[in-house]
Amino acid sequence: MARILITSAIPYINGIKHLGNLVGSQLPADLFARYKRGRGDEVMFICATDEHGTPAELAAAKAGQPVEEYCADMHAVQAELARGFRLSFDHFGRSSSARNHRLTQHFAGKLDENGYIEERLEKQVYSNADGRFLPDRYIEGTCPNCGYERARGDQCENCTKQLDPTDLINPRSAISGSSDLEVRETRHLYLRQRALKDKIAAWIDQKTDWPLLTTSIAKKWLNDGEGLQDRGITRDLYWGVPVRKGDQPWPGMEGKVFYVWFDAPIEYIAATAEWADANGLPDSAWQRWWREDMGAGDVTYYEFMGKDNVPFHTLSFPATILGSGEPWKLVDYLKSFNYLNYDGGQFSTSQGRGVFMDQALSILPADYWRWWLLSHAPESADSEFTWENFQASVNKDLADVLGNFVSRVTKFARSKFGETVPGGGAFGPEEAALIADLEGRLRSYEQHMDAIEVRKSAAELRAIWVAGNEYLQSAAPWSVVKTDPARAEAIVRFGLNLIRLYAVLSRPFIPDASAAMLAALGVTDESWPGTATGDLARALDHLSAGHGFSVPENLFAKITDEERADWQLRFSGIRG
Ligand code: MF3
Ligand code: ZN
Repeated sequence: MARILITSAIPYINGIKHLGNLVGSQLPADLFARYKRGRGDEVMFICATDEHGTPAELAAAKAGQPVEEYCADMHAVQAELARGFRLSFDHFGRSSSARNHRLTQHFAGKLDENGYIEERLEKQVYSNADGRFLPDRYIEGTCPNCGYERARGDQCENCTKQLDPTDLINPRSAISGSSDLEVRETRHLYLRQRALKDKIAAWIDQKTDWPLLTTSIAKKWLNDGEGLQDRGITRDLYWGVPVRKGDQPWPGMEGKVFYVWFDAPIEYIAATAEWADANGLPDSAWQRWWREDMGAGDVTYYEFMGKDNVPFHTLSFPATILGSGEPWKLVDYLKSFNYLNYDGGQFSTSQGRGVFMDQALSILPADYWRWWLLSHAPESADSEFTWENFQASVNKDLADVLGNFVSRVTKFARSKFGETVPGGGAFGPEEAALIADLEGRLRSYEQHMDAIEVRKSAAELRAIWVAGNEYLQSAAPWSVVKTDPARAEAIVRFGLNLIRLYAVLSRPFIPDASAAMLAALGVTDESWPGTATGDLARALDHLSAGHGFSVPENLFAKITDEERADWQLRFSGIRG
């Protein structure tokens, strides 16, 4: 039994995530976690909300709530949506937890002890009206390059020129609009990533099996231009982890917090500690997942994320871990995704464009979305959601192929032999041929799943469903029953066994339909078939004569043209 640690990039607290966010990290991570559990491995699957930083503060202010309260509420909302999509986290933590405070301060203290922290005096824009320092992107003004009047202090979104806040003409606070700004000096901590560059480069060089998308982004950041830069890890904000050196105060850093991107990945570890706390377990229970010296030597650690997160996970977080000098687990395999686009444009949280998790569940059950999103995961390139494509896949793959198979077998069985598995006849060459075909397909499905090739896995699973339909079509029990009822019984028995196999194999993709199929068959044994000779044949001879079953309610309803048109219109604008 292998031990598999899986983390999904932790979603920002402010606002509900759209389907593009979901398919870029949490959903494929869930697919993999479910698959590995299905194969009998010991899995720890962790996610959390990423709660700190200016965007959270501003969203809370907009909602008229204290930021602590806003985050607690939004965490509950996101947790509920995660349950709605059947995301099977072992723990859904919070980066604002006491565990993360302590662990973040611990890492900073170790980095300092090892000489990787440097204090620098900086000049930063302070807004008197807002009573706070402004991050670059919260300063607005006229672009010196193109004259665009709403350029941000980090970049002009009109001409894409990178800017410094002091380049802006007529600068003002993007929060209050006030132009009562001044430049003040402030001290900050920097993580000396350049001093860790060789270690990080050597570590990435070992990762020859990583997806190209992952290593190419990492190497670009390591080597392009000036290469890996030292990084400011503190901010002048209220909402965050207070800067401390382990459990000691950090002189000169009073009132400051760590930068959100410093504490967020540490939350992967802290959330596992939160899991132990929530289950009344001792520290050793989470440490055996994360500390090489506490038993994590045999853990394989997988991370899932969108491509924009790759630099933080290939460079910054490893710098934190390597620089600590302590035996924390580093990622073994990093799966990254391109972007999902929406109907001719981009999904956009700030503009409210696309379909958001709550909206999706309000129109269709989770399985429909899970199937479409995973079977169209943006792996080798960006991919696009269109309502036509969504309707076509759901109707074809789920309703016509899988749903139809289940309903034809169970309905025919009930009409001819009643609601128990018929015992007549014997399996023959047709069944043997299908088993041989499925044997190959199952091995390839497992290989794709092990390699986290999400689209290929979905395609192979679909082919496994199709093979069952073809078998049924050619075995034609509805004709055979007229001349050889015993043989028809054997075909039906085999068909019912196929439904059980499909429920087991499909579970990582469509857990609710899988549960409905197993419930209809009245079976609780959902174990994955073994890989030895004869195992698959045995798995397809699981249901014995006389075992009761029922016809499941329509597993998947087709999406009508009217529904599609209605949703297309409803989600064409921007979310209010
Ligand atoms: N909140 C970030 C995002 O949604 C992801 C943070 S992942 C972690 O892009 F590494 F910081 F945890
Ligand atoms: Zn410009």
